[in-house]
Amino acid sequence: MSTTSREIHLVKRPEGLPTLDDFAMVETQVADPGEGEVLVRNLYMSVDPAMRPRMSVGQELNEAMGGGALGRVEKSRNPAFREGDLVTNRFGFREVFTSEGRGLQVLHPEPGLPLTVHMGPLGGTGFTAYGGLLHIGQLKDGEQVYVSTAAGAVGSMAAQIAKIHGCYVVGSTGSDEKVRWLEEEAGLDKGINYKTAPIRQTLKAATPKGIDVYFDNVGGDHLDAALASMNSLGRVAVCGMISGYNEAGSRTAVRNLSNIIYGRINLRGFVAPDFMHLYDQFKSDMAGWLKDGRVKYQETIYDGIGNAPAAMVGLMQGANNGKMLVKLAD
Ligand SMILES: NC(=O)c1ccc[n+]([C@@H]2O[C@H](COP(=O)([O-])OP(=O)(O)OC[C@H]3O[C@@H](n4cnc5c(N)ncnc54)[C@H](OP(=O)(O)O)[C@@H]3O)[C@@H](O)[C@H]2O)c1
Repeated sequence: MSTTSREIHLVKRPEGLPTLDDFAMVETQVADPGEGEVLVRNLYMSVDPAMRPRMSVGQELNEAMGGGALGRVEKSRNPAFREGDLVTNRFGFREVFTSEGRGLQVLHPEPGLPLTVHMGPLGGTGFTAYGGLLHIGQLKDGEQVYVSTAAGAVGSMAAQIAKIHGCYVVGSTGSDEKVRWLEEEAGLDKGINYKTAPIRQTLKAATPKGIDVYFDNVGGDHLDAALASMNSLGRVAVCGMISGYNEAGSRTAVRNLSNIIYGRINLRGFVAPDFMHLYDQFKSDMAGWLKDGRVKYQETIYDGIGNAPAAMVGLMQGANNGKMLVKLAD
């Protein structure tokens, strides 16, 4: 027996912004699981900016792309998994797969919250924001905070966690509608649209008391602008640099790096495994904040595997509000 599946292959390396013809959808037959294996049907897959650099280097051509997903075990010949178990996995961009179980983690959904929160605020996205801000950024209550891509998946969490800590929070994003959400729904002190005015000027005006912590998702001109406004002993938690992902490097040179010298600024990159010791505390804090409404979240969900390339292209153009997901099955 076998199960029909569809998967998304990268067939061409993008030049600049990815386009739909960089991808192809391929139908495959997935054999029934052998001894020690499980067969998983993915329900949702994540679409992440980090996939874009891998499309230039790392991702093999004419093979299924990889990425985070949440699936359900349909057949199991592995005692660690039961049929019906929900499992997080790294086999996104495909509907069905078999596995010996390595890297699959059984998910116990948080009662009272939708399943998709585990792909966003209560998953790796939220944890990246939590640890990046509190552990890497060493946030203190009441500080001055700037978050870029603040209406995105990670940024919207970082910005609201900073608000919970009593901070003055400025967030930048790419549309007036997103600015409105930041100010009116997420409760930020100021949202700025980096597409309608130079970020350096608007950020300076929005941060009259300077910046103690910059949560950087963009790099390039946003990092440059933040460095010009950092307070002494400020921290820059470098989470991502999306402004350079479609290029061989960053679009804009960072000219204000020398400000880190006399400002004694700590600029530190990170990945989520750096602060796994915070994971249990994060789960408990975030589940509470989501349930009591202190943290709001948005998600943009494309329907069906055939729309995964459009979701990837859209993500790089700001088509998402909050977490970008593709729904693959009910
Ligand atoms: N270090 C880690 O462990 C880790 C983990 C997850 C994510 N990240 C990084 O965190 C950042 C955000 O990721 P995410 O998953 O939360 O994605 P996201 O913010 O939900 O989506 C990406 C957003 O980036 C913005 N954008 C696209 N091109 C841009 C440009 N040239 N300049 C400024 N903004 C641009 C768009 O929003 P606008 O409408 O605002 O332009 C788009 O919606 C990325 O840099 C990612 O690589 C790091």
